[in-house]
Amino acid sequence: TNLSQTSMGHREGFGSTLGVIAATLGSAVGLGNIWKFPYVTGENGGAAFILIYLLFASLIGLPVMISEFIMGRRSNAASVGAFKRLAPGTPWFLTGISGVIVAFLIMSYYTSVAGWVYAYIFKAMSGGLLTTDPKVSEQAFTGFISGVWSPLIWQWIVLLVTGAIILAGVKKGIERITKMLLPVLFLLLIVCVIRAVTLPGASEGIAFLFKPDFSKITGATILAAMGLAFFKLSVGMGVMTTYGSYIGKSESLFSTGVKVMLADTCVSMLAGLAIFPAVFAFGFTPDKGASLLFMTIPMVFNSMPFGGFFLTIFFILASIAATGAMISLFNTPVAYLNEELGWSRKSATVVTGLMMALIGSTATLSNSILANFKLFGMTMFDLFGYATDNIMMPLTGLIIALFVGWRLSKYDVADELSNGGSLNNRTFVKFYLIAVRFVAPAAIIVVLLSGLGFFQF
Ligand code: PHE
Repeated sequence: TNLSQTSMGHREGFGSTLGVIAATLGSAVGLGNIWKFPYVTGENGGAAFILIYLLFASLIGLPVMISEFIMGRRSNAASVGAFKRLAPGTPWFLTGISGVIVAFLIMSYYTSVAGWVYAYIFKAMSGGLLTTDPKVSEQAFTGFISGVWSPLIWQWIVLLVTGAIILAGVKKGIERITKMLLPVLFLLLIVCVIRAVTLPGASEGIAFLFKPDFSKITGATILAAMGLAFFKLSVGMGVMTTYGSYIGKSESLFSTGVKVMLADTCVSMLAGLAIFPAVFAFGFTPDKGASLLFMTIPMVFNSMPFGGFFLTIFFILASIAATGAMISLFNTPVAYLNEELGWSRKSATVVTGLMMALIGSTATLSNSILANFKLFGMTMFDLFGYATDNIMMPLTGLIIALFVGWRLSKYDVADELSNGGSLNNRTFVKFYLIAVRFVAPAAIIVVLLSGLGFFQF
């Protein structure tokens, strides 16, 4: 059993409703929630940014996610194959290829951060992070990532682990692990939140999260919020198309999408509530960037009994969540090479992994020997993130929305959303069609153009 199709065109599916949601959440929940969401929120001023993010997640992210589900389940194929089957002989499939490239580029920096998270398990275990001194905590992190070999080797370990899981197959690999562990991560985050919000000086952090100040919002901020919505929900690159092809015919695509979005948002908000009170309580500034998670979380745990133990568990769970997301990313180029170009899964996995290690090393070394190597004013690490979040995923998402909204027939879309008429959700189908035909495309275009500086409000 693996992700590829058999000769009869039958794909192995997810076992149950809970399995579908757990597996999809396995892709959505990851470093995006505990690392990127807090750090981008911190850089963009807090509550106002979060409100804009929530707006985009529901008005753009959710309709695009449902569109990808529709494409995947209708065609019974992964991202590129879905376009080929639904619009044979047309260039639409190039959108799928752009998604494959996006997955590859995201992996190039995501594996770097995942490597830090893996490494932090062992640092936490050895007691090396047991400090409540902000300077020591900051130094431990920057000292580690500015080394050359250690972060690189951790990145390779991450790639090896993820590649091995990919070769082992979808059901075993994805469904079981996520189903068991997401609730545990959730609980541990709640423990963390309770400690963080009761720290002396926490209230400033809570205000940062909940008191919007719209004066700091610019076109670039709005674009960052939209990019985060795409990244967070794993949409705008075809991952959810592939997952859609595993969703059983009796599941509701709409309610799956809504549940995934809500659960994912809860995890992000919990991470925010764990991190920002600590940021202010310990005298950091919220705009610390990529290091925010790694500097604050150890100190939160160290301010409670059995802190070292909880901290270790936290990074184990974070590693698992990151790995779930990476499975879906890594699998995208692999599925393309295997299903479209006829490579064996093994060579597809090995070649993809080696290429990711090579390109990804430029991201990892951005914190050391390549720190001054910049393109468009950004290090490779920042450039991979910026280009995928703020340009490539919105563009790919735009085309996916247009494809499902205008190219597929309304009948097919309604049929897929209502499971052949057995779900009574006509009003919803109407709203969905308006969102996917007009609202999401218009919003994506306006935000992209203003964020890239073509015009100002
Ligand atoms: N959504 C994942 C996260 O938040 C990242 C991801 C993006 C996964 C795109 C797959 C596709 O960590």
